[in-house]
Amino acid sequence: MSTSSPAFDPTTAPGCPAGRGAVRLSGTSYQQTPTELYRSLRSEHGAVAPVLLDGDIPAWLVLGYAELSYVTEHDELFARDSRRWNQWENIPADWPLLPYVGYQPSVLFTEGDEHRRRAGVITEALETVDQFELARDCRHIADQLISAFAGSGRTELMSQYVHALPMRAVVQLCGMPLSGDDTAQLVDDLRISLDAGEGEDPVAAYGRVGDRLRQLVQERRAAPGPDVASRLVTHPEGLTDEQIVQDLISVIAAAQQPTANWICNTLRLLLTDERFALNVSGGRLSVGEALNEVLWLDTPTQNFIGRWAVRDIQLGGRHIRAGDCLVLGIAAANTDPEIWPESYVGAENAAHLSFSNGEHRCPYPAPLLADVMARTAVETLLERLPDLMLAVEPEALRWRPSVWMRGLSELPVVFSPVTQ
Ligand code: HEM
Repeated sequence: MSTSSPAFDPTTAPGCPAGRGAVRLSGTSYQQTPTELYRSLRSEHGAVAPVLLDGDIPAWLVLGYAELSYVTEHDELFARDSRRWNQWENIPADWPLLPYVGYQPSVLFTEGDEHRRRAGVITEALETVDQFELARDCRHIADQLISAFAGSGRTELMSQYVHALPMRAVVQLCGMPLSGDDTAQLVDDLRISLDAGEGEDPVAAYGRVGDRLRQLVQERRAAPGPDVASRLVTHPEGLTDEQIVQDLISVIAAAQQPTANWICNTLRLLLTDERFALNVSGGRLSVGEALNEVLWLDTPTQNFIGRWAVRDIQLGGRHIRAGDCLVLGIAAANTDPEIWPESYVGAENAAHLSFSNGEHRCPYPAPLLADVMARTAVETLLERLPDLMLAVEPEALRWRPSVWMRGLSELPVVFSPVTQ
């Protein structure tokens, strides 16, 4: 199959691996009305839908809760190393999803025993983080960020608070001092490499991130301290410097975007849903309930790419070929009508798949650390600015145009100015 042929239409081509009637994984309904969209995809295509990624590259979207649980539990059938993909010959060098899908020698793309080794080292390093200390550090970062805008009575929270807080917290957790010019530079370069703005160069920023983390690894080899980088370098598994740099980048990147969007989507819920009341401090439901509801209904990582089939296999009534790509439809699975009949979706438990599942799931202590960061971010903001309100009508809020991460472009708010 070639995507360059003008006569080719992959949404109708019978020989296309994704089959007849594939759906483009793009468009505004993935942002504006995702629950309805996933339900209609499911009723039309079943639990595993043929989709087209950017450039009309075929893949499968796993929408069913049971099917997604199966895929993530069986890494011997649905594996993580993207070099298995049967579409590489059709992928152009400037393909926009390449940064997420292109193989890198990090924990993300390793498999089997090597993955258990790498993920085990990260898990042990994260397990030693003291959650009370992390909460205290997050509180400190939150206070600093809030103080910068508290006197003005209005701000745009995404740029001034929501993205900055988990980034600073994770960088500090990894062993960079909280204050200092090179920490500020690293935080800024990470922001640019994950989410470049107009005129910024993500490739150059990514290069500087690698250089600074390489230096950090050398500093910690010479003088280990009580931080994640030191625990990685002193771990008896003896990872190389380059492996540690790759895994530090994975940890920071995997933590920042989802945690920031978890904070964003929780604040949006608290500020717009009357069950939580307009004036949040007077609301009837708690911040904890809002955080959990977001993981079911507005999950940060709404789709994740992905897994690659190890051999030909049937899944949800579809014939998946060896090397086919499967996108994990986390948002769709969380709202699957099979687990939530009668259109009701509740949030009474934590059985959502927002942290994925199985061998490659978000490593066990990470969801707890993310919870500490998100809870502290939301609670500190509401405590310091108790009459916080949206500065626009809820309908005017815009979701970022991404089918992968669910979060707002901007979250403008107003409040009574506070001088300290
Ligand atoms: C302290 C914050 C966090 C850290 C340090 C962290 C770290 C990681 C790491 C290292 C991985 C790669 C696991 C592997 O391939 O073996 C991962 C995967 C993942 N994380 Fe997290 N994460 C954090 C927060 C979050 C949050 C808030 C969410 C969403 C609510 C999330 C969702 C995921 C998902 C969906 C995956 C993909 C798992 C898969 O491939 O099945 N993470 N995380």
